Amino acid sequence: MILVTGATGNVGGHVVSQLLNRGVAVRALTRDPATAALPDGVEAVRGDLADPASLDTALDGVEAVFLLWPTLAADHAAAAAVERIAGRARRVVYVSARGVSDDLERAPGSILGSHAYLERLIRGAGVEWTFLRPGGFAVNTLLWAPEIRATGVVRRSHGAAGRALIHERDIATVGVLALTGDGHAGAVYELTGPETLTQAEQAAAIGEAIGRPVRWEEVPPENTLRDLVASGMPAAMAEGIVAAHDAMVTSPETTTATFEKVAGVPATPFRQWAIDHAGDFR
Ligand SMILES: NC(=O)c1ccc[n+]([C@@H]2O[C@H](COP(=O)([O-])OP(=O)(O)OC[C@H]3O[C@@H](n4cnc5c(N)ncnc54)[C@H](OP(=O)(O)O)[C@@H]3O)[C@@H](O)[C@H]2O)c1
Repeated sequence: MILVTGATGNVGGHVVSQLLNRGVAVRALTRDPATAALPDGVEAVRGDLADPASLDTALDGVEAVFLLWPTLAADHAAAAAVERIAGRARRVVYVSARGVSDDLERAPGSILGSHAYLERLIRGAGVEWTFLRPGGFAVNTLLWAPEIRATGVVRRSHGAAGRALIHERDIATVGVLALTGDGHAGAVYELTGPETLTQAEQAAAIGEAIGRPVRWEEVPPENTLRDLVASGMPAAMAEGIVAAHDAMVTSPETTTATFEKVAGVPATPFRQWAIDHAGDFR
């Protein structure tokens, strides 16, 4: 039995379906089993990572855990949650983030600091672990979907920022290999897509996928910051994202070959991701 956390989300949803395809028994942790859209054959169990005592039912009889952490929101409960998980499961595959290093300090309010903290807790918990450190998710570009649907124009800053965005399914593929196979204990997999595209090129690729041109219109960084905060993102996080994109104009993200090495097939190009998600942009 494998427990998948984040099972109703981007990455965890693919982990669930890939495990089912392999005939593995899957249990999904969710805060609300009544509304969780999960495939047939998955046992949905209520639990909240921010409330470690609520995890016991979900952890009963579990061999391995796919752990996706709700960064920052549940950090106060991380030590107790990891201890509980390690007390039951033999193996944990943790979704961390590219940019985390083994010696990164835990900076208050920072996503990378939160992942570094979780990695440290898991390393010290006496459980077999594998860390996935993906770079930016292609699915982040869904933020543009409302304006693409309405106008066919993306009005953002840093159209020249180069990113090696990864398909959420590829992250899940490596996670499933680490959950179900041997040889991944103690491995840290830095995962990216197969190519670096500028944000303007990503918008154009979405246009090709939906059969209608999508144009990038450059606006000042302050506008992007304002839009991100208006979408509900904490200001510090929005500032971090804008600063990171600023840096990626002059230092585009590099790709890694890790996905192909581990999975034995090439990573999915952004253009294919856009085709897979065309319905979200039409
Ligand atoms: N986006 C990026 O570019 C990027 C890059 C690197 C790393 N990451 C990391 O990837 C993770 C996000 O992955 P994602 O996009 O697949 O997630 P997502 O689609 O945003 O889904 C979040 C999932 O977390 C679950 N969840 C939220 N709070 C929870 C809680 N308190 N207890 C239990 N479950 C909880 C939700 O389940 P229910 O609602 O069903 O409870 C949902 O399934 C984060 O840790 C992020 O830092 C993201």
